[in-house]
Amino acid sequence: MNTKTLKDLFLAELADMYDAEKRIVKALPRMAEAATCTDLKKAMGQHLQETQGHVTKVEEVFQCFGVPAKGQTCEATKGLIEEAEEIAAEFKGSPAIDAALIGAAQKVEHYEMASYGCLKEWATLLGNPKAARILEGILNEEGAVNKALTKLAVEMSNQKALGETSASVKGAELKGAADKKAAKPASKERPMAQAAR
Ligand SMILES: [Fe+2]
Repeated sequence: MNTKTLKDLFLAELADMYDAEKRIVKALPRMAEAATCTDLKKAMGQHLQETQGHVTKVEEVFQCFGVPAKGQTCEATKGLIEEAEEIAAEFKGSPAIDAALIGAAQKVEHYEMASYGCLKEWATLLGNPKAARILEGILNEEGAVNKALTKLAVEMSNQKALGETSASVKGAELKGAADKKAAKPASKERPMAQAAR
């Protein structure tokens, strides 16, 4: 019979996040470097400092439970970071690079928010309000950076990506229309089609 308990689950998930935070500390400087928008670089730089703090806070949560801090490979974060690096390489130099980086960063934030939301609830259920408070603090910081990223996307990077894309699409459409017109037979041969335009 499997006798694992909520405490085992809590410690396993905490070990996952300990590893995740350390991976994010390594990845954020690379993502900030790939960003072209100053505000996005700044937001990522600030979140790097917060993330370094999260590593320490997760260690404190381990202490609250009287166990040494121990990480376990977080395959999800590892995969999300790999995807972020792939998309950064694919969109490097394009007007959509910042939108791509924000999307990738928000996937990581949402994973963290889901994890810390569970951990906070479990810490409360396990009768450890101090750990729950620390976890809630981390959760709030992840939520705040996610909101800040949404704001940057909506107000800046999505428009930049869309604006230049739609301009080039419009340009291609105009060129296509001009080519069509040039190739069109004389108006007297197709009077109705001309009139219908
Ligand atoms: Fe974090």
